[in-house]
Amino acid sequence: MAFVKNYLLPILGIFLAYYYYSANEGFRPEMLQGKKVIVTGASKGIGKEIAYHLAKMGAHVMVTARSEEALKKTVSDCLEYGAASAYYIAGTMENMTFAEQFVAKAEKIMGGLDMLILNHVIETSLKLFTDDIHFVRKSMEVNYLSYVVLSVAAFPMLKKSNGSIVVVSSMAGKTACPLITPYSASKFALDGFFSSIRKEYAMTKVNVSVTLCILGLINTDSAMEAISGILNLEAAPKEDCALEIIKAGALRQEEMYYDTSWLVRTSLLLNHLGRNFMESLSLRYYNITNL
Ligand SMILES: NC(=O)c1ccc[n+]([C@@H]2O[C@H](COP(=O)([O-])OP(=O)(O)OC[C@H]3O[C@@H](n4cnc5c(N)ncnc54)[C@H](OP(=O)(O)O)[C@@H]3O)[C@@H](O)[C@H]2O)c1
Ligand SMILES: *[C@@H]1O[C@H](CO)[C@@H](O)[C@H](O)[C@H]1NC(C)=O
Ligand SMILES: *[C@@H]1O[C@H](CO)[C@@H](O)[C@H](O)[C@H]1NC(C)=O
Ligand SMILES: *[C@@H]1O[C@H](CO)[C@@H](O)[C@H](O)[C@H]1NC(C)=O
Ligand SMILES: *[C@@H]1O[C@H](CO)[C@@H](O)[C@H](O)[C@H]1NC(C)=O
Repeated sequence: MAFVKNYLLPILGIFLAYYYYSANEGFRPEMLQGKKVIVTGASKGIGKEIAYHLAKMGAHVMVTARSEEALKKTVSDCLEYGAASAYYIAGTMENMTFAEQFVAKAEKIMGGLDMLILNHVIETSLKLFTDDIHFVRKSMEVNYLSYVVLSVAAFPMLKKSNGSIVVVSSMAGKTACPLITPYSASKFALDGFFSSIRKEYAMTKVNVSVTLCILGLINTDSAMEAISGILNLEAAPKEDCALEIIKAGALRQEEMYYDTSWLVRTSLLLNHLGRNFMESLSLRYYNITNL
């Protein structure tokens, strides 16, 4: 016990202080100036705020979601805020052909891509899971599979630009979350896929960064409506959350944690350190020269 108190905790404290201090060091809004960025789920909520920040930083923004009217508004606001250019293509991420063609059209319009921000999710209400297999499948398709399809389609452009993939996930993608079981499963899947692909890029010297964003409760209309009367928890502001997502992507961080509780953020960080250690142990056994 004395060892923990006298040595381990102070060392941990210094480490965490350093981590939090240096996390966002080096970010400048100019980093996004003239960059070509796709934001999915940008008709409302966090995605719309991400698009607005990017516009103010002078980026080229390409947004998508289902509701065309809302996207028109996002685009006209972006142009007003100073976007280098702003376009939308409306469609549903339930349709993988749309997801693929969306990226191809974005390429035609923007002529390349620097950052792919994957953010859309299927609407989810809080309830006990019984037998809605249809919703499990839909959640996996919209929240997970379409992310994979979009990243595959965007990969050649991102490889060329040394670009970034930014995946918006949730506490529910790192810890068990009752009442949103299908959502939680789809967010865990994102971690499995995108954290593994990040290792493959490192092994093969592909310079495309992958940032997984782990968010706590954020005060978007959808979230507030979903938890109303069921979950009593402080929500963080969506505008600030959106900015932190962009920063983490631009700084090519592997993971970012956004939650009002420092205890939650610290637990996530420690969990990450433990997992990284485990992963580095197993990576030693790979020999990819024969692949
Ligand atoms: N808010 C929170 O508390 C919270 C917490 C943790 C993580 N997150 C994550 O943050 C991200 C954004 O959440 P949010 O609260 O901002 O959500 P939101 O306000 O509900 O926005 C969701 C976006 O996804 C789009 N979308 C929904 N279904 C779609 C479909 N089938 N095809 C294409 N687009 C679709 C919506 O537009 P249309 O309806 O027009 O299609 C909308 O633009 C999500 O990845 C979420 O998991 C949020
Ligand atoms: C899926 O999207 C493609 C491309 O936008 C479209 O041609 C096709 O009709 C869509 N499929 C369905 C079932 O809506
Ligand atoms: C991408 O990074 C490589 C080194 O990893 C560098 O040689 C190349 O010039 C960079 N390309 C661009 C477009 O920045
Ligand atoms: C990867 O690309 C980024 C962005 O262009 C660059 O800053 C970084 O130095 C590159 N890393 C390597 C290892 O080439
Ligand atoms: C990996 O495999 C190649 C080809 O078989 C071999 O030449 C090399 O020595 C191996 N590397 C290690 C570290 O075992």
